[in-house]
Amino acid sequence: MIDTKKNLSVILLAAGQGKRMKSETPKVLHQICFQPIIYYILKSVEKLNPKNVFVVVGYEGNAVEKYLNDNFPSVKVVYQKQQLGTAHAVMAAEKYMEELGNFCMLLPGDIPLITSDTLGRVFKHKLSSESEAVLLTAEVKSPYGYGRVIKDSDGKILKIAEETDASPDEKKINEINTSIYCIDTDLLFSYLGRIDSKNSQNEFYLTDIVEKIVRDGHKTSALKTAASIEIEGVNDRVQLVNLEKAAQQQINEKIALSGVTVRNPETSYIDPEASIGRDTIIEPFCFIKGKTKIADSCIIGPFAQIEDCIIGSCTRINKSVVQGSKIGSFNNIGPTSFIRSGTITGDNVKIGACCEIKKSKIAGNSKIPHLSYIGDAEIGSGVNVGAGTITCNYDGFFKNKTVIEDNVFIGSDTMLVAPVKIGRGAITAAGSSISEDVPPQSIAVERNRQVNIEDGAVRFRDKKQKQKQKENKKRKKI
Ligand code: UD1
Ligand code: CA
Repeated sequence: MIDTKKNLSVILLAAGQGKRMKSETPKVLHQICFQPIIYYILKSVEKLNPKNVFVVVGYEGNAVEKYLNDNFPSVKVVYQKQQLGTAHAVMAAEKYMEELGNFCMLLPGDIPLITSDTLGRVFKHKLSSESEAVLLTAEVKSPYGYGRVIKDSDGKILKIAEETDASPDEKKINEINTSIYCIDTDLLFSYLGRIDSKNSQNEFYLTDIVEKIVRDGHKTSALKTAASIEIEGVNDRVQLVNLEKAAQQQINEKIALSGVTVRNPETSYIDPEASIGRDTIIEPFCFIKGKTKIADSCIIGPFAQIEDCIIGSCTRINKSVVQGSKIGSFNNIGPTSFIRSGTITGDNVKIGACCEIKKSKIAGNSKIPHLSYIGDAEIGSGVNVGAGTITCNYDGFFKNKTVIEDNVFIGSDTMLVAPVKIGRGAITAAGSSISEDVPPQSIAVERNRQVNIEDGAVRFRDKKQKQKQKENKKRKKI
């Protein structure tokens, strides 16, 4: 077996706009389960362990290049300034000839579900059949839109006919070009320059190379694979969502087989970069995005949206949104709470119904059970924050900090006007607006004294009753 690391270069074509997507976003950056299409292909390519990977970019090339630099730094970006066709795109890599291995694998950028197994099979076939070029083909039920593989009566490949150029007879052929090729590098570049654009789309078709090399007697073989979702391309948004459904099923099944119950899996979308521990239950309608790490034995959802978070074990997140936060073990969050970036909670923390927490630290065994806004706060352990409490963290110019030390009891409907510090063990009276620091173990009360008027309610009702009768009489007269 020849070492792929020494001999195989991958050239991925991703310069096209994807006209049929009708979008400002380049096709390869459209997302499937929160990752761009190109992410999936590059993950499969990585497993192939090639010498190097070149990605040809063009339409909105800067955006694609930025994505690649940030996420796949070893990939080399090549620009195809004008998108004149797939052959023209491969030509853009010619200036890196020196760096290319003996063999090139050419891949379209729009087949997200291709597996490394299939790519590996193409490479192995290239070597075992001693072909100079191998083309992966598939027999499909509806070949519409694909290039058709034209063979002679002995089953030898002759050429590929594109949908828009194929004759009515050729259109009836069900064997299609997957656009996955493995070809000797020297042969590839010696023929690319001979391809013209005399076709219905006035493009330089990579597919034309097949006819030319076959005619010149170079050994070319078609490796046929089973028709499957793997070889399907994303050309429009109907295909995009169909492939996302398939990807979602694959991801959810993999997670389920690792010991996670994913209930009603077709309603939940999980990022392939996320990891979930054993015995966790994902209830229906969950979105788990980014590099989220959920530990063992959690109950997530229903209706949870979790993005770039670390969640400790045995935590419950019910119908809530949690972003960029580190949540401890045995936490109980929701229903309908919003935990925003930069929040860190200890173990045994409760953030109950309808709370918003922003960039705050909450130590273990503390509770914010109902209807609170906590922003830029540092809360100690054993704290109870009463219903409706608000940290007034923003004065219109600056964000200010609230510090609540261990074992504090914040009465319901307390306004904590930051910057403010509530000392250890202190209490704030319900309904108080606290704008000065409270010393440890003190009670802070900030509200008017209550007055009870004896029989006041009776007199009030009498007065109002009379007023109403008078009004009614007046109305009848009119
Ligand atoms: C292509 C093949 C077709 C095959 C199908 C399989 C050609 C001419 N046709 O058709 O035989 O059945 O794939 O999915 O090759 N690209 C560039 N620069 C360009 C043009 C395209 O980089 O100038 C890139 C695109 O970004 C895309 C890939 O090449 O990732 C394929 O282009 P696309 O327009 O999708 O080709 P298809 O019409 O699907
Ligand atoms: Ca395509």
